[in-house]
Amino acid sequence: MALCFAVCPQGFVKAENIFINTPKTTLMLTANEGGTPRIHYYGSRITPAQGHEVLDAMSINYDAYPAFGRNSFDETALSVTHADGNMTTELAITGTRTEGDLTIISLKDKAYEFYVDLYYKANDKSDVIETWTVIRNGEKKPIRLEQYASGVMTFRQEGAWITHFHGAWGQEARMTEEPLSAGLKTIVNHDGVRAGMDDRAEVMISLDGKPQENSGRVVGAALCWTGNYKIRLDTRGLYRHTLIAGIDDLHTAYTLKPGETFQTPELALAYSTEGKGGVSRAFHRWGRAGKLHNGRGLRDILLNSWEGVYMNVNQEVCEQMMDGVKELGGELFVVDDGWFGRKYRRTDDTQGLGDWITDTEKLPNGVPALLKAAEDRGLKFGIWIEPEMTNSKSELFEDHPDWVVAHPTRELSKGRGGTQLVLDMSNPKVQDFVVGIVDNLVKENPHLYYIKWDCNMSMNNFGSSYLTADKQSHLFVDFHLGLRKALERIRAAHPNLVIQLCSSGGGRVNWGFLPYFDEFWCSDNTDAQQRLFIQWGTSHFFPTMAMAQHVSASPNHQTGRIIPLKFRFDVAMTGRLGMEMKPSDLNDREREYAKQAVAFYKEIRPVIQLGDQYRLLSPYEGNGFCSEMFVNEDKSEAVFFCYKFENYVGLQTPRWHMAGLDPDATYQLTEFGSTERQHYFEGKNFSGRFLMETGFDANLSGQFGSRVIRLRKV
Ligand code: GLA
Repeated sequence: MALCFAVCPQGFVKAENIFINTPKTTLMLTANEGGTPRIHYYGSRITPAQGHEVLDAMSINYDAYPAFGRNSFDETALSVTHADGNMTTELAITGTRTEGDLTIISLKDKAYEFYVDLYYKANDKSDVIETWTVIRNGEKKPIRLEQYASGVMTFRQEGAWITHFHGAWGQEARMTEEPLSAGLKTIVNHDGVRAGMDDRAEVMISLDGKPQENSGRVVGAALCWTGNYKIRLDTRGLYRHTLIAGIDDLHTAYTLKPGETFQTPELALAYSTEGKGGVSRAFHRWGRAGKLHNGRGLRDILLNSWEGVYMNVNQEVCEQMMDGVKELGGELFVVDDGWFGRKYRRTDDTQGLGDWITDTEKLPNGVPALLKAAEDRGLKFGIWIEPEMTNSKSELFEDHPDWVVAHPTRELSKGRGGTQLVLDMSNPKVQDFVVGIVDNLVKENPHLYYIKWDCNMSMNNFGSSYLTADKQSHLFVDFHLGLRKALERIRAAHPNLVIQLCSSGGGRVNWGFLPYFDEFWCSDNTDAQQRLFIQWGTSHFFPTMAMAQHVSASPNHQTGRIIPLKFRFDVAMTGRLGMEMKPSDLNDREREYAKQAVAFYKEIRPVIQLGDQYRLLSPYEGNGFCSEMFVNEDKSEAVFFCYKFENYVGLQTPRWHMAGLDPDATYQLTEFGSTERQHYFEGKNFSGRFLMETGFDANLSGQFGSRVIRLRKV
């Protein structure tokens, strides 16, 4: 970050041009004292001396944090009812300062003791800039924040497109790409609990027409918030597009008492000239450099019990699965739902949530005996919990009916199993309870390695017995601030516990969660064909090391589709590989193949989990084909994947092109696990340039053909 400044009496710097720099990008603002902060440029890195080019070209000149009340015919980021009832706000810059990698622009209302600080964080390890806002009430009485967005970004470009993601259970992260036409495009989440359910809080704006994977200017924006959000894209005359993102402003008015502050969640931004892929790689690096919990550690290969036995877990069947995964070369066994409940045994999904006591009919010697059985086999051990939830049929609900999210005047609307309810995370006692679930499990099982943290319900009831009548509108926010407090306490006490974020599959995929979680479950849909689409969409913003991808049984339990084991492994191997089945259901030939696949994945794991991902041929456009690849940091190793999931006479296999390689290096190609006449380039050498520019043929036959080609620099 660089400021062009002159020192002024208050110790602030009187800033004019502000440059927020990452290795390859610059966000340029102006912040003249007494005026409003203006956004002028977001693009490739420029020097302060080039600032005049931006201003002389009159590119953009837009309020960096527009407030309601004066000239507010555009969309606003902030709307406040002041202590005297005045609904207008007029902010003026009082100063700008830097603290390490932060630039802070301070604003004050011209007539009120009302303060807003805009924060911009420049990262030096990835091309991501984070922005957020801290709002302070210096007035003598409470004020009401009606709208309090995290940040604003604006572009001027004709022919811009938006890429966004939406879906539902079993079809998460469906991608839609469309031109940004005049009007307001709103992407919103009202689930209350699961920010990644349905629409996702991440968008890309392609400035050079139809989005391309590896070329063209693209801006990515991700709101890091675990609760309800709203992303607005306002497109006006002169091709001006303004993005405003923040906590949703429906039923979320937030009161600040005198002296209180509110900090909004971060909006993370990335710019790239290398297409959507460039933006994705910036976000992936950002995650690995620290935004994701333990972003540098390799993830284990696990077997999760869910699709193998569902809730019919017991000591014997778990030990059988442990034997199976051990034989295949796996490293971790996770027992999913069904292990708990005393008065209300978790034999199905109608009861037991909240009663985190072992079901001794299923597990007579408790969780410690399961963990020991895993350790005896040289496996690590993990367990499923759904801490923020209960069932109306549970001892917890009998003891604490006031702990659930609901209004006491209303009949309860129940979720999964006809009985599921959400606990009120705004209540500190509930936070203590949730922290206690993890503490107790670790206390009883000091070697517990992994937790699968699930969350399977929306806020179907609105209301809190904990929040006072005048603060009911805080619930959508305070639920998540309370959850964050609990997660912070858990992480402070158990920094090395591996925790997976799951939510009816991928219902909570959002960067707001990932500082506390090592990975997430992409979807409950494990059908490899649909997974190609789910994983393709998810990878636009999230790193593969965090994407849990499991090989499951065939026919698939969600779709009934029959898919060869090789294809299932090849699809799952592009993320954190795992299995979701009873290994004993594999026949001898399949078991032998699975062993080889797991061993091969161990070899390529560092490239997949820590390397750069290049999406190549999109399943949305590939006419039944798709491809992607991973390249390590020094470009000495890469792995290429291609798939075919359509079959009809005359279907032509495309010519494959790679990306991300060193053009001047020579790579030797080897192929894993092919059964056909596919080895004709086995052991042959190609230059990176040839593979990227000219490309190569590799036939794929049958309904589900796939290839995995490993490249090593010679
Ligand atoms: C959710 C999860 C599944 C599984 C079940 C258990 O649906 O997404 O992976 O854990 O709950 O009930």
